[in-house]
Amino acid sequence: MDVLTSEKIKVWISDQIAVVTLNRPKSRNAMTYAMWLAIPTILAALDRNPEVRAVLITGAEKDFCAGADIAEFEKVRSDVAQATAYEVAVDACCDAITKISKPTIAVLRGYCLGGGAHLAMSCDFRFAAADAMFGIPAARLSIIYGVKGTRKLLSLVGVSQAKMILYGAQRFDATKALSIGFVDRVAGLENDKPALSFWERLIGAKARPAQGGDPMADARAFASSLTVNAPLSMAGAKYQLNGMVGSTSGLDLARAEAMIAAAAGSDDYREGREAFAARREPKFQGR
Ligand code: COA
Repeated sequence: MDVLTSEKIKVWISDQIAVVTLNRPKSRNAMTYAMWLAIPTILAALDRNPEVRAVLITGAEKDFCAGADIAEFEKVRSDVAQATAYEVAVDACCDAITKISKPTIAVLRGYCLGGGAHLAMSCDFRFAAADAMFGIPAARLSIIYGVKGTRKLLSLVGVSQAKMILYGAQRFDATKALSIGFVDRVAGLENDKPALSFWERLIGAKARPAQGGDPMADARAFASSLTVNAPLSMAGAKYQLNGMVGSTSGLDLARAEAMIAAAAGSDDYREGREAFAARREPKFQGR
């Protein structure tokens, strides 16, 4: 059954599994402000729908999501007030994904960057293709990644890897993502282990991802195995575990938000947007 379909977000339900597809493949499924705003309503409807026992979130064609749509930042995220409102929408969207009572899996192909990583981290599980590429390039735009996304990153990969990802703003591949706990499965990778020779292992070569693994098939098979389990048990486990890892009580939240707003009002933020549009290296001054 095809429900809630819009041009930019498609929803398809079959065999008790809903697939939510971000559908802007020409922009690598970058999220517009309207898309951040739309997802909570879609997920609330899926949460209420008794036909749905699990939700998969994915991207159309080659990529999952290259993050927030930077091209519209001049219009919707160019000053502190807009940036604050924008982050409220991002957080509300990701909270809606985190809080839906049903199991969720992000199915990741191609790029999964920035806000796209936040979407993926908001799901219960992440199943990747061997070609998936990850990264949080906020430091290339003088943006401070939001408190909730940072908390999720910390809980998945630990503090050192979280700092490497956020300070470095470098992309990393599916093998690395699996090794640090950013994703739970890489399609085909498990079958590929014997492919390394003795000598390759001796010099510390990494396992080669198998070609052609299908993360959507893996995710559907896993989701299908969950559809027969007690929804109340899974919802209760999810509520408890999310509550346990989601705490930011050790943090001065007001100061963290003030730093995020200061970055949104900085010269460097303008420079980051201009450099992205001009396809050149940004020159940051730290103010
Ligand atoms: N926002 C808006 N448009 C985006 C986008 C984004 N986050 N990411 C990609 N696009 C657009 C590109 O502008 C390009 O549009 P065009 O064909 O009209 O020029 C199209 O998607 C294809 O991307 P392109 O950059 O040509 O492909 P690539 O293979 O050279 O690089 C990326 C792909 C994803 C590595 C690169 O586009 C990128 O770095 N995007 C920004 C990622 C980012 O910083 N996200 C965090 C935002 S907070």
